[in-house]
Amino acid sequence: MDETPKNIVILTGAGISAESGIDTFRDAGGLWEQHRVEDVATPEGFAANPDLVQRFYDARRAAVQTVEPNGAHEALARLDRAWKGELLIVTQNVDDLHERAGAKRVLHMHGELLSALCARCETRHRWSAPLFDRPPCHGCGEQALRPDVVWFGEMPYAMDRIYAALRAADLFASIGTSGAVYPAAGFVRDARELGARTIELNLERSEGSHWFDEARHGPAGQLVPHWVDELLAGADQA
Ligand code: OAD
Repeated sequence: MDETPKNIVILTGAGISAESGIDTFRDAGGLWEQHRVEDVATPEGFAANPDLVQRFYDARRAAVQTVEPNGAHEALARLDRAWKGELLIVTQNVDDLHERAGAKRVLHMHGELLSALCARCETRHRWSAPLFDRPPCHGCGEQALRPDVVWFGEMPYAMDRIYAALRAADLFASIGTSGAVYPAAGFVRDARELGARTIELNLERSEGSHWFDEARHGPAGQLVPHWVDELLAGADQA
């Protein structure tokens, strides 16, 4: 039987951007130690205190524009360019570091910091400036823009496309994610049941580590370039 994978789904999380200088959520000192999820990452929190929530995302939007992709983002972009089969990078991250490294086949299931969503007309706009001062929507003119990020209690984006890719995948990789937030945390089980080989690349064992056929632990900036080299070498021999 041909063991060389053809179709790959890669799930990434905050750990892949940690070496670029972006805080993760659940590590020591992470964002969810500094802020209450209910206050800044739920529709109810936004309704209760929109200024607080806009300032939180304004600060993150500004910060993301000061950092650079690292070796792990660059390695995945290299894989994206070279891989002849299907490939989808599903990121839970709201930064744009995959794209800035040059990856094209990227899907942001939790939205993007550099995008604003109009709560009135539902138009999305590329957005790099603050939203705190309530600028008007370029579509309808209403001052109803919110961060285009998925909050707890909201539906992640593009789930149909993600499950279609998981059904077609023969390799599923999870990089830099704690496996604490569903539905992304369930993708490894879905991929396994659908017949894919599964691999975890993470600093430490994630909550779902035991679901993976293989686990490698260490910093993404070291693990991912090596793993991509292996995949591309295997594809050359196939
Ligand atoms: P977490 O902060 O939950 O987990 C980050 C994972 O990355 C941990 O398992 C760390 O061990 C690992 N890690 C840290 N540094 C690393 C490095 N240099 N190399 C490799 N791994 C490293 O972040 P996510 O799993 O992405 O959702 O969190 C998932 C979702 O929870 C986020 O998208 C966000 C959050 O609440 C929403 O806001 C909807």
